[in-house]
Amino acid sequence: MAKDTRPKILFCAFEATPFAKTGGLGDVAGALPKALNAAGGDARLIMPKLGMIPKKYQEKMRHVTDLTVNLGWRQLYCGVETLRVGGVTCYFIDNEYYFRREGAYGYGDDAERVAFFSLAVLSALPHLKGWFPDILHLNDWHTAMTPVYLKTFFQWDERYRRMKTVFSIHNLRFQGQFDPYITGDVLGLSQQEAEYHGLYRNGGLNMMQGAVVCSDRISTVSPTYAGEICSSAYGEGMDDLFRSRRGVLSGILNGIDTELYDPETDKLIPARYSAKDRKGKALCKAALQKEAGLPADPDAPVAVLISRLTDQKGMDLVLRVLDEMLDTGVQLIILGTGEQRYEQALTATAARRENLKVFLRFDEALSHRMFAGADLVLIPSLFEPCGLTQMYGLRYGALPLVRETGGLKDSVLPYNQYTGEGTGFSFANYNAHELLFTLQHAVALYRENRPQWDALVDHAMAQDFSWSRSAEKYMALYKELLGR
Ligand code: ADP
Ligand code: GLC
Repeated sequence: MAKDTRPKILFCAFEATPFAKTGGLGDVAGALPKALNAAGGDARLIMPKLGMIPKKYQEKMRHVTDLTVNLGWRQLYCGVETLRVGGVTCYFIDNEYYFRREGAYGYGDDAERVAFFSLAVLSALPHLKGWFPDILHLNDWHTAMTPVYLKTFFQWDERYRRMKTVFSIHNLRFQGQFDPYITGDVLGLSQQEAEYHGLYRNGGLNMMQGAVVCSDRISTVSPTYAGEICSSAYGEGMDDLFRSRRGVLSGILNGIDTELYDPETDKLIPARYSAKDRKGKALCKAALQKEAGLPADPDAPVAVLISRLTDQKGMDLVLRVLDEMLDTGVQLIILGTGEQRYEQALTATAARRENLKVFLRFDEALSHRMFAGADLVLIPSLFEPCGLTQMYGLRYGALPLVRETGGLKDSVLPYNQYTGEGTGFSFANYNAHELLFTLQHAVALYRENRPQWDALVDHAMAQDFSWSRSAEKYMALYKELLGR
């Protein structure tokens, strides 16, 4: 039998659809391994067996093995379970004490939980029935200790020594910063080891920095963000480090799962439609207006915002000009959860303004109905490593209105009134009135020049953000690392 020469990639993430999702990382980790396989890779996924994984998946998992992971003085049970979904072999690290909780993150012992997961991934490798990865692809700070442990504890083994690491940054805001006192007790490292592998920064312990120092390659989720994080405005205090690692840093734009997000087949929306025949979209819009308790007026522009309610997502801009935005007559529907100050301010405004409806929950099905029913998707982010909702908007014919930052800049072509080109609207500065003027401009176009608007929707729906292009870029990166 011919030798299988496909690069073996183990994709490590704390969340992945359809098992668990709290944000875009879940979408990416759910879709990219599949796309890597289609692009000639042999990719598998590994994640914690989180309590939030739906029962139907948990029940079908098969036990691969169990072992003891020694994290400092702790001797910890580590089960390895497996399940094949969508053609991808997935592994789940099982430890009920750490992972059987309601949420994924935000616990007081997160440092210990991620350290355990990061070490468990490495400890599990010899038990995957003869499948040993060539590449470990790590994602965000929850997996940042893996390259550090790899360099500290596993170099005596040839198989580990040969393995290459890629660390992808989805959000630099979250770095895994802790008090250095956890070095020995929680992470099981000596001060010298931690120091040598780059875990200390400005008197604190920073897991992300450890990964950036110890990984063979660093990538982030859009070319623009890769450049931005090398500047003090976006570097979250680490820009000097990225400038020094510029040679191994790249930016690869995320894709979207075009099967899950397809207006022609989506079962979560009330009517299906295509770019050619958009009658179904009009039905989706009417249904959304009804669901939100808004007048079912086909000529009222419907704008949606589907997002974590945090400063990253531009909530300060939205609140600063919310009343003026509503004065344009736009019907604004917001779906999100996040900081209490934003939730309260939105609720208070919704109580006095008829054309604002706010849903404060995480609701996947409703998000699909909103993309399908909307004319506009607002994403006025302060920073945005990639952003997925603008791409979902494009796919469903809801034009994105974005700030020109990170992946938003790389995926939305602003409307040019002279050439008629464009797939959405954008503004450059983090300024509430620029957001307002851009919205006013979009609403005016919608009201006064519908043929032009419809042409933009045509352009938007013709965009291809499927994962194949990005997967090929990752494959090229892996092959270069492996010298193949
Ligand atoms: P981030 O990962 O920074 O939150 P992304 O745009 O990359 O931003 O991804 C967010 C994902 O989470 C998208 O799939 C979006 O539709 C989804 N999402 C965000 N908030 C909600 C919500 N309240 N209900 C349903 N889906 C949501
Ligand atoms: C992060 C970023 C977002 C990106 C997502 C997936 O959560 O905030 O911009 O799209 O990860 O890469």
